[in-house]
Amino acid sequence: MTDSFSRREFLGVSGAAVTALAVPVSVDTSAPAVHIPKAARPAAISSSNGLGAVARAMEAVMAGEDTLDAAVEGVKIQELDPTDMSVGYGGLPNEEGVVQLDASCMHGPSKRAGAVAALEGIKTPSEIARLVLKYTDHIMLVGEGAKRFALSYGYEEEDLMTPASRERWLRWRANRGAHDDWLDVEDDDPLGQRPTGTINLNVVNAAGDVSSITTTSGLAWKIPGRAGDSPIIGAGQYTDNAIGAAGSTGRGESNIMVCGAFLTVEFMRQGMAPTDACRATLQRVMALTEPRLLHPDGRPRFSLNFYAVNKAGDFGGAGLYPGRFAAHDGRDAAHHDLAYFYERQ
Ligand code: GLY
Repeated sequence: MTDSFSRREFLGVSGAAVTALAVPVSVDTSAPAVHIPKAARPAAISSSNGLGAVARAMEAVMAGEDTLDAAVEGVKIQELDPTDMSVGYGGLPNEEGVVQLDASCMHGPSKRAGAVAALEGIKTPSEIARLVLKYTDHIMLVGEGAKRFALSYGYEEEDLMTPASRERWLRWRANRGAHDDWLDVEDDDPLGQRPTGTINLNVVNAAGDVSSITTTSGLAWKIPGRAGDSPIIGAGQYTDNAIGAAGSTGRGESNIMVCGAFLTVEFMRQGMAPTDACRATLQRVMALTEPRLLHPDGRPRFSLNFYAVNKAGDFGGAGLYPGRFAAHDGRDAAHHDLAYFYERQ
């Protein structure tokens, strides 16, 4: 059984399902929408680690592949890359040294979503999230159930730690407390802020169909079982095929508080350009941030970025601090600066 999301296969059932809906004719079930230009330009936008991902996704879209399949192909580059310590294989583990992965995706044309959280032993959680989307009436599977679900499709359980990620974890464990039983070790690579890397990728094709995906190993050294924003539909990523898509990287807990990807898409629905929508979402984040998460001068102690694309293929991104995002505009892939609020010090 393939895990790709074939558009033709889905269309085979959707036409009949729509005509069979018993919705009274007077009820308007469509969400309010602003005017979006009809002609879409294919585009892919990602977090900064996704330069290869946007190129791969655009190549697939140009070859006529479905936007969700294209997005999965893109993020799998990072999931399978042992040197990306924020995603998939080689991602930094939880405090017990176990890698627990989160991912979610949405497919605009079919209005479907899928997600996995705290998935262990499988290198490509993006593919498992797509399987949930394609083959189940559920939206999120977690932990042991998510792993058994993946194994049922023939995935093999593998050790997701690399020598480098184990080294980082062992060093963190040794130095985490002055009064524990682990002797401190020399650290020539102090971690500073805890890594919360992730990849988010949003894709629109020439027909204006949109999909989004986010996949991560989550916050390094997290409490076992912690699920971040990435597997949460509306936080880690969100797609409305009438409007566009958005997603996030950075401190998941702060994003979950505002349902940030959903909110960004809603701001675009109200007429905002993608960059402005991302900025408006970050303003909401700051309004809901507890004092303990702020420096004395009011700057946040954490990073958070949003990325967005509308149905027409316009894209943009914003962060609390300076940074970049990757995008492919149909011609080439490049890094772009994020709009931002605070200077790093
Ligand atoms: N945004 C990734 C995480 O917080 O897990």
